[in-house]
Amino acid sequence: MLSVVVSLTSSSMSMSSGKLQDESQWSSEELKLSQLLDTQAVRELHVAIQSQWDPIRLSACQTAAGRALWRHVIHDPLADLLAGETYLRSLHQKIKKDLLNNARETSGVILAVRTLWFDSKIDAALSSFAGEAQVVLLGAGMDTRAYRLTSLKQTDVFEVDFPDVLEVKATLLEAATKSMNEHNPLKMTAKSLERVAADIRNGDWVEKLKRSGFEPEKKTVWVLEGILYYLSHSQALQVLKTIADKCSLAHTILLGDFMNKPSTTMSSSLFHFYSDWPDDLLPSLGFSEVKLSQIGDPDAHFGLMDDQSNLFNKLRGLPRSAQIHPDDGTPCCRLYLVQASGLPNETNI
Ligand SMILES: C[S@@+](CC[C@H](N)C(=O)[O-])C[C@H]1O[C@@H](n2cnc3c(N)ncnc32)[C@H](O)[C@@H]1O
Repeated sequence: MLSVVVSLTSSSMSMSSGKLQDESQWSSEELKLSQLLDTQAVRELHVAIQSQWDPIRLSACQTAAGRALWRHVIHDPLADLLAGETYLRSLHQKIKKDLLNNARETSGVILAVRTLWFDSKIDAALSSFAGEAQVVLLGAGMDTRAYRLTSLKQTDVFEVDFPDVLEVKATLLEAATKSMNEHNPLKMTAKSLERVAADIRNGDWVEKLKRSGFEPEKKTVWVLEGILYYLSHSQALQVLKTIADKCSLAHTILLGDFMNKPSTTMSSSLFHFYSDWPDDLLPSLGFSEVKLSQIGDPDAHFGLMDDQSNLFNKLRGLPRSAQIHPDDGTPCCRLYLVQASGLPNETNI
């Protein structure tokens, strides 16, 4: 679950300039919660899902909590509402503890970098398309890009997730619409948004997407953020292959994060699929122009990774084949941020 990725960051990290920013952000003793959480219906819904949802579904709320608490670098005003008080308080406590202990990592920093990386790559992909396009978010969870990225104004957005996750999300956003006044209404920045209830382990999810208006011949950005490692190897490969097949129909850009093998040991019951070499895997499935970044690389930094002694900068200094850190014998847990693309064959145009 993403909390594990979040807690991957909580073990230790220091960020020189990033840290100063963080301390002022989190210095107040009390966590200030958004007013959007302040209705009985919203509170009751969060209590209900806490007891009913499995860890995979709940990871959607944990991810939103990360975005909510890193609000000084991520503008996501709906994140508090979608995360719920429990996760906000728990992450806030972890962050305060990290700061108190002068930890090398502040909890949630990976999530912040990952979100900013996907935001920037989505913006760049859409600007390279120059015109109408579609974005498909697989395992969309509590993602609110359809409300916050202005680059989506000519873009149809499809959010795919389990039916119960999408239902709760819609109910929470409806509650927000009621709470927000006419001077500050909830506005979509995307051209359109469709929520597609589907389990991507099953073979029918593309049909469901098509029935919701997805057009295989239209330029597409596929966003696989925090999803692939919950699938088995064969399911993840099937999903990637299905997307690769679409490359023959229209210009396609795939954005995804990949755990390496040591990362899956953080929770062997939740994490299954990994790839130590996604830059070899994706071309073998039919993608081209694969660009791989590690947390801390120039395009996956965002001013949050300045301290050279932090875990990610230390990992970047090691060969990618290293699975155990030579200094301290700890597993080299890496999260690769990967962009790949595909262009239609001329014969198919
Ligand atoms: C860690 S969350 C990430 C959510 C979102 N992409 C983000 O970054 O905020 C993982 C999401 O994937 C969804 N998910 C996991 N397995 C899925 C499957 N087989 N089909 C559809 N959605 C799935 C979960 O319900 C959850 O919302």
